[in-house]
Amino acid sequence: MSFRTVKELGLKRRKVVLRTDYNVPLSKGKVADDERIAASLCTLKYLISKSPKKIVIISHLGRPKGVDKSLSLKPVAEVLEKKLRKKVIFRTLEEEVKTPQKSGIVLLENIRFHKGEKENNPSFAKSLASLGDVFVNDAFATMHRKHASNYGIAKLIKPSIGLLVQKELSHLSLSKAKRPITIIMGGSKLSTKLPFIKSFLRKADNVLLGGAMIFTFYKAQGLDVGRSLYEPDFVESASKLLKSKKLVLPSDVLVSRSIGFAQGVRYVDCNKIPKQHYGVDIGYRSVLDFIKILSISKTIIWNGPLGVYEVEDFRASSEDMALFLSAVSSKTIIGGGDTAWLVKSLGLRRKFDFVSTGGGATLEFLAMGTLPFLKLVEKK
Ligand code: 3PG
Ligand code: MG
Repeated sequence: MSFRTVKELGLKRRKVVLRTDYNVPLSKGKVADDERIAASLCTLKYLISKSPKKIVIISHLGRPKGVDKSLSLKPVAEVLEKKLRKKVIFRTLEEEVKTPQKSGIVLLENIRFHKGEKENNPSFAKSLASLGDVFVNDAFATMHRKHASNYGIAKLIKPSIGLLVQKELSHLSLSKAKRPITIIMGGSKLSTKLPFIKSFLRKADNVLLGGAMIFTFYKAQGLDVGRSLYEPDFVESASKLLKSKKLVLPSDVLVSRSIGFAQGVRYVDCNKIPKQHYGVDIGYRSVLDFIKILSISKTIIWNGPLGVYEVEDFRASSEDMALFLSAVSSKTIIGGGDTAWLVKSLGLRRKFDFVSTGGGATLEFLAMGTLPFLKLVEKK
């Protein structure tokens, strides 16, 4: 499948609307991780080289309910200006609609300050479309959403994908990946991961599971999970999935009397979880079992930490996995989000073949092979 890219648009003297994903972590009003800003430079520099009349950049940050100054994109504008070494005019959508800048690079304030964005309100999409002649969507991490600034607008002015999206798609397409393909999946809720796991069981050769969703599977096997989180409504779905030989569950877990810190911790077999304990990580024996499968895999994709990684005491299996994967010769892909944060915090980022800038979008594309926006730029 191929898609219309920014390289196929006439850009000279045109007004370009560029959607990026600048949903970056902030700390004390400053950008705490600028990776998504850095990842947007490739398309921005390409656009600038084509002498458009102006570029209007749109992004969201966080999940504000109305205007929330703590989620302003202003700190992003400052970082972008430094990285680009060009003036970035930061303004609100209202300002830009009322008195449009004649030229230059404009970054609009957080688009989610407007209700119409998430609702994909048609008249809101129309006001966004009025800002330009062509549309470039480079916000890979937002492509699983059908919002006005990435989906609604694409129906009104000529849409295309940017260079970051092109790169993401080429790394994440499973159709050409070398086999065996092994997916490692973490996450706390089976309810949100269920359609993806089902799809991976068809597309991949092995699906290794970690995260709190394993307890719903243990329940389906009739095991006692103590105080561990699980989803009673999904036990039946879990038992259906268990029929697949491709699905691999951890055989041991780390348990703790507290979920917030290590208390009475020990490794136990999955059928011996004590009543008063929480399962907080997968066990070291399970990590070794996983490694056996991973050692003979040619493509490895990892999405989601294996334990309660937010708590340092419960990070061991995820750290061991990151270290192991950083040294294998097979193709290794990190499916963004928390897992990307984890490998970065260990200084291992460069040891992986590809670290996606997405999270939910990455998982959806890997599993489903498409995303809503892509249908609008597909070349027949
Ligand atoms: C992300 O970080 O996952 C994207 O920016 C999408 O954000 P959202 O999950 O709030 O839509
Ligand atoms: Mg998300």
